[in-house]
Amino acid sequence: MKNLGILLSRRGSNFEAIAKSVAAGRIPNARIAIVISNRSDAGGLAIARRLGLETLVIPSKGRDREQHDREVVAALQKHEVDLVCLAGYMRLLSPWFVRQFPQRILNIHPSLLPAFPGLEAQEQALAYGAKVSGCTVHFVDEELDHGPIIVQKTVPVLDTDDEHTLAARILEQEHIAYSEAISLVLEGNFEIVGRRLTRKIPAG
Ligand code: GRF
Repeated sequence: MKNLGILLSRRGSNFEAIAKSVAAGRIPNARIAIVISNRSDAGGLAIARRLGLETLVIPSKGRDREQHDREVVAALQKHEVDLVCLAGYMRLLSPWFVRQFPQRILNIHPSLLPAFPGLEAQEQALAYGAKVSGCTVHFVDEELDHGPIIVQKTVPVLDTDDEHTLAARILEQEHIAYSEAISLVLEGNFEIVGRRLTRKIPAG
């Protein structure tokens, strides 16, 4: 059984989709061990409590990044977390944090990376005039929205779109992509050469 640790700051719809996938057996042999938010008003906390999951608020406002990260990492370790899933966690991880969980931290971003990293990726895609966008689940490394890509899903950008309609279309795919990526990583049947993740072909 693998323990997932969820870090979030806001609404928590990706976390909820992960929780549903765990419950439905789409992410086999996994449980959500802890849901941590750096904000006490995160909607995701209410969802977690409703689902009977353990929650923890570790406020980050005005705190030194590494000090805060040390508390978060201690909580993850206490709950024996195998895989950390950032799900709308609006805080950069310190390099120290990343080193505590090598290739065991995932993030989801609402664009086809490396296009449109950072905030408001859906608005960036519209403003750039992209005709296709989507989402990316990737390993977290020391750079923002940067580590090796695990899963991507595309969506069309329609002439009638504004940032809300585009974000909603991307979000549907995010909810599918994150569970796929977690299953793939937990299964462990892949290799990464350079930045490129490929599935291993079973011998025989
Ligand atoms: C999602 O768009 C995700 O890609 C981005 O932040 C948003 C979080 O939404 N990293 P939610 O809190 O999971 O609903």
